Amino acid sequence: MNKKILLVYYSQTGQLKDIVHQFSTPFFEEGMDVEIKSIEPVENYTFPWSGECFFNVMPESVLGVPVPLEKTEFKHSSYDLIIFAYQPWFLSPSIPANSLLNNPDFIRILKGTNVITLIGSRNMWIAAQERVKTLLKEAQANLIGNIVLRDRHDNLASAVSILYWMLKGKKEKFLGMFPVPGISDEDIKRSAIYGKIINKRIKENNYLSLQAELVKNGAVEVKTNLMFIEPRAKKIFTIWAKTIVKKKNRALWLGLFKYYLIVALFAVSPVVIAIYKLFIQPFSMKGIKNKKEYYLGVYFDRI
Ligand SMILES: Cc1cc2nc3c(=O)[nH]c(=O)nc-3n(C[C@H](O)[C@H](O)[C@H](O)COP(=O)(O)O)c2cc1C
Repeated sequence: MNKKILLVYYSQTGQLKDIVHQFSTPFFEEGMDVEIKSIEPVENYTFPWSGECFFNVMPESVLGVPVPLEKTEFKHSSYDLIIFAYQPWFLSPSIPANSLLNNPDFIRILKGTNVITLIGSRNMWIAAQERVKTLLKEAQANLIGNIVLRDRHDNLASAVSILYWMLKGKKEKFLGMFPVPGISDEDIKRSAIYGKIINKRIKENNYLSLQAELVKNGAVEVKTNLMFIEPRAKKIFTIWAKTIVKKKNRALWLGLFKYYLIVALFAVSPVVIAIYKLFIQPFSMKGIKNKKEYYLGVYFDRI
């Protein structure tokens, strides 16, 4: 009997939709019973974003506050494999993705099911994946794989170009000198390789060391600098988020957060990274190696 595969995603610009479709081509070629579902919040987010709306989703993204989703009917009550595709927002799973992971109908389907996460990010996905892992664990799902697609350009250049894309809606070079924002067309096309690897495993019903095989084929890369920065930035974002949700003058506080973010990203983080590289990294190689192994994998608990 053909294996039942469910792919769920939310996508604003269509980038994650393209990834899901490319990634899943091998499943269709093999005649698997494939179901692709796009989820929609009842009140969707407009694209392109206004600056105000963009920063306004920070507190609820970081604090994991779900929103109501349009009713999604799933074809089956159980699946052999679920591909949970999502994007990070402010170092957290996007609000629509987090809402799905909190949806009782979806939680029911997740229980006892093998799940692979497929991330379409800028480049900061580590903290979001930790949250997703916790939610999957609570739903009693088995996380067996993780694939991360990202913008391969320099961290600061990609931050500017993605912001331009999000606020102007144009996936093109800002000022003609910044890189084209987002995940390259080549990487999106190449994601079919991972679908192929997984397809073979589904047929054999053997997921042993699947993640190792995916990683060997470039499915996840962990950047040392970002691995250092992200968990710290997430803690600071959480303090901001908890503060902002309590404030009556939310707009003012979101404005302050925006300036904080610009300073943190462009002035503080390069200095922190330089200090880290000079004074911490050379003396903590073993710890770094262990942490990288953890983030490359699909472990629920720290190794
Ligand atoms: C509000 C917002 C916050 C974002 N924060 C992050 C982030 O923390 N880390 C990251 O790698 N990408 C971040 N991105 C980029 C998204 O993860 C994603 O790659 C991009 O929005 C395209 O996704 P789409 O398929 O929904 O169009 C953010 C995007 C938005 C709109």
